[in-house]
Amino acid sequence: MTNKPTKLVTLDEYIIQSQNRFPGATGELSQLLRDIGLAAKIISREVNKAGITSLLGVDGSRNIHGESVKKLDLFADQQLISALDRSLITCMVISEENDGIVRLNSQGGKYIVYLDPLDGSSNIDVNVSIGSIFSIYMRQSRFDPNIVESDALQPGIRQVAAGYVLYGSSTIMVYTTGMGVSAFTLDPSIGEFILSDDDFEMPDHGTIYSINEGSYNSWGNGLKKYIKYCQLEDQESGRPYSARYIGSMVADVHRTLVKGGIFIYPSSKRYPEGKLRLMYECNPLSFIIEQAGGVATNGNKRIMEIQPDAIHERTPIYIGSRKNVEEVIRFITEEAEVPV
Ligand code: AHG
Ligand code: MN
Ligand code: MN
Repeated sequence: MTNKPTKLVTLDEYIIQSQNRFPGATGELSQLLRDIGLAAKIISREVNKAGITSLLGVDGSRNIHGESVKKLDLFADQQLISALDRSLITCMVISEENDGIVRLNSQGGKYIVYLDPLDGSSNIDVNVSIGSIFSIYMRQSRFDPNIVESDALQPGIRQVAAGYVLYGSSTIMVYTTGMGVSAFTLDPSIGEFILSDDDFEMPDHGTIYSINEGSYNSWGNGLKKYIKYCQLEDQESGRPYSARYIGSMVADVHRTLVKGGIFIYPSSKRYPEGKLRLMYECNPLSFIIEQAGGVATNGNKRIMEIQPDAIHERTPIYIGSRKNVEEVIRFITEEAEVPV
């Protein structure tokens, strides 16, 4: 259930209106969100052109004009970082595309931003939805000019804002600053994100499960049993549930937000720590899902309470509607298959 807006509001207007509700606000976070919105429009344009680009030259090669064609995830990384650098509010970026921290020009900036510039990038070639994910923290060492990596190792509960832009059948931006979830749809004809849903509330229970079932044989017994339970008929709880797996976490979680259900990326023999990244995939999407009334856990701990040890660390994740997550936890706990 969501609140549909009754009048046309652009992303920039909405951000300013929200900021005006806080008399002491400096406007810096608002600026940061607008910067991300601008980069997202540029990335969206490029994603939509990707098919044409590949006609004119493959990534890493030269197109017929003799220009080199960049990989789209590197393009997205550069656009987001340069948008954040421009307004001198962000001191450091951590991105999937960079092994170490990226120090920006404003070492006095008070925000730290984590990015998955393009999530699901293996889906680009097949025209399937992909997205950009962001997660924003306040730096702790406010007056130290030498920003260091440990400043960025904060648990997800300290996020001041998080969100994603999904380049799907339309481009939408979804974000939270901890006061509910808002969604904006890009109207390409005017180049503006328009408010499409305010105060997003996700279903408490859903009938879709989302997991890479090809890895079935490498899961623990509890999870195997849970998936069999999802497939068993039971009219009251709407089983058998439907299986849906896009292979872009951002798109799978967006569907889960709208329709309810559960998305799982567990630990397995191949990925004992899980595959997905705590800081720029799991935390921001958990913040969104929790703000919409859902739950996100690694099997025995709330995702947003995990104290990170490294900027690129991974975690198993069970995320979605409250009742579905409770269901799977019952199974994996009884089998003691929880991560330590
Ligand atoms: P990325 O493209 O940023 O590297 O992320 C891909 C991730 C995630 O989006 C998706 O849920 C997962 O990889 C899919 O992994 P499997 O192919 O192992 O299912
Ligand atoms: Mn990713
Ligand atoms: Mn990525």
